[in-house]
Amino acid sequence: MSKIFYPNRDFSKKAKIKNMCEYNEICAEADDNYEAYWDKIAKEKIDWFKPYNKVLDEGNAPFYKWFIGGKLNITHQCIGRHLKNRKNKAAIIWEGEDGSRRIITYLLLYYRVNRLANLLKEKFGIKKGDRVVIYMPMIPEATFAMLACAKIGAIHSVVFGGFSAEALRDRIIDAGAKLVITADGAYRRGNPYLLKPIVDKALEEKCECVENVLMVQRNFEEVNLVQGRDHIYNDIIKNYSEFCKAEEMDSEDPLFLLYTSGSTGKPKGVQHSSAGYILWAQWTMENVFDVKENDTFWCTADVGWITGHTYIVYGPLAMGATTIMYEGVPLYPDAGRWWKMIEELRVNQFYTAPTAIRLLHKVGANEPVKYDLSSLKVLGTVGEPINPDAWMWYYETIGGGKCSIVDTWWQTETGGHIISPLPGATPIKPGAATFPLPGIKAEIIDKDGNPTPKGEKGLLCITKPWPSMIRTIWGDPDRFVKSYFGDCKKNGKPVYFSGDAAIYDEDGYIFITGRTDDVINVSGHRLGTAEIEGVIGHEEHVAEVAVVGRPDDIKGEDVFAYIVTKKDIDEATLIKNINILITKEIGPIAKAGSILIVPGLPKTRSGKIMRRILRTIAKGEKITQDISTIEDSSIVGTIEKIFKEQK
Ligand code: WTA
Repeated sequence: MSKIFYPNRDFSKKAKIKNMCEYNEICAEADDNYEAYWDKIAKEKIDWFKPYNKVLDEGNAPFYKWFIGGKLNITHQCIGRHLKNRKNKAAIIWEGEDGSRRIITYLLLYYRVNRLANLLKEKFGIKKGDRVVIYMPMIPEATFAMLACAKIGAIHSVVFGGFSAEALRDRIIDAGAKLVITADGAYRRGNPYLLKPIVDKALEEKCECVENVLMVQRNFEEVNLVQGRDHIYNDIIKNYSEFCKAEEMDSEDPLFLLYTSGSTGKPKGVQHSSAGYILWAQWTMENVFDVKENDTFWCTADVGWITGHTYIVYGPLAMGATTIMYEGVPLYPDAGRWWKMIEELRVNQFYTAPTAIRLLHKVGANEPVKYDLSSLKVLGTVGEPINPDAWMWYYETIGGGKCSIVDTWWQTETGGHIISPLPGATPIKPGAATFPLPGIKAEIIDKDGNPTPKGEKGLLCITKPWPSMIRTIWGDPDRFVKSYFGDCKKNGKPVYFSGDAAIYDEDGYIFITGRTDDVINVSGHRLGTAEIEGVIGHEEHVAEVAVVGRPDDIKGEDVFAYIVTKKDIDEATLIKNINILITKEIGPIAKAGSILIVPGLPKTRSGKIMRRILRTIAKGEKITQDISTIEDSSIVGTIEKIFKEQK
């Protein structure tokens, strides 16, 4: 049985939701009249240009619609409405890896976003509904770019700066982007690196949709510029007006696309709405992080992931909070960097991933004591299950035993938090995401909707629509229905299945156990094994390949590839070739940690690779599964033997 930690009393007294009674009351209110509950919050939180006339439209399920007929612009929610009372408040505090800082007040943010919005409109002809790909480092201009798109109704699609040219190209083509916004590069581990050449390479083929490239100069390294196509932001931005009228957006107009990995095929362009998304980004900031007017909030994610979208940009700004953006890596110049920043910037809420916590614990256990971390009130984690050891270190050493840890479970598709403790209310247990947030119907069930008995693994589903849910997969509505509403039903009706498994413990706490599909989670990055296999399959010596996740102390999971070769090749060369290919076609985050050359793969008689067995072997565990359905079961023993010899 795991230990329970109660919220700090002084904190609870001032918290937005103060105890479990209050939590239960809000849940009951939402249960009693679901639409009235959301109606109340949407009216209270969103500054509408025009009110909606219906809360939820289920007519075309699972293409749910929220706040029908409402008009808004999320830049008004995130910037405009704050100018009255917060115009000189820091909206963004940016820190470069070299220690330089920029403070962007709400007023300055307003001007910067407007200028860029005008530039996009006037110079590039970007209109409502056009797609803009943003491929940028962690600099304030990345945020300006997202918000400038939102201001004029363009749909942004941010691609994580660690993705390769091929991966970037696939996303540009799928989105049909008219414009790419990028930077020359930035700094990592003290050295400049470049992004612009990656954009150039991506645009070499099949990207006819892209008319222009806008490049921000960050490190002023020399890069190639294509005449007529490429434009330097720094040179032209001042020509545009600091005032720009916000486009009136419908609640359901897409705000952005964000590509994420699925269990099969190419990445999916997850499409989010305007009103539902911003509502939940803001509500969760207020209640899960309990952010108050004078607080400073820091989420260490990259803006290229959903966590960066919702909790660096949209959530904090919608709240009128101060958000920190850091350019570099946590270990530069040493493992005390983040703690130093917390001390200097007086951070109140800190949000990071278990992989970073494990890394900083391992390489810098003595660093936190050198800094004053007493400003911290709430600590958050996201992206993967957190092991109790890392949790305890975070709780005791970083939080000084006085900060609640909010272990937030959610996904690119959910837009914002779904299951999480509330810091002033929920008694927490290491490793538990605890309970669904009020108004969210997250349940652990079987395929037919029966609740899973306590202590047994089941499927983590969300059985009622919620405002910030994915609206569709860009350009592929059938895949949307199949991917998320094809596996589980409740009362005969398809419900959203997350792809994750979870367990209720004896007290009804939810513990997430991980993915049930062929998606792996490396350092909190979601990768599709099918995608990696596709890339490895291009290596000329490879006949067959199967990729699984293997537990890793720091990364959570690591890429483990089983390979059957068709030609003789020495192992070291093969491994090198494969990792070069992965880096080229996806990016270094997907590199294989282990590669095992085997004479064959375990398959069913119909030719399906039995990955469960390969996962068990990769973990170094004993095989307990039934292997009688394998066409040639002797292959299992052979692979096990090779695995043991390699270890
Ligand atoms: C995993 C990140 C355990 C999960 C916001 C999910 C977690 C996937 C947690 C989504 C958590 C996220 N505990 N696992 N607190 N949070 N996950 O789309 O497997 O990058 O399905 O969104 O991360 O990853 P994504």
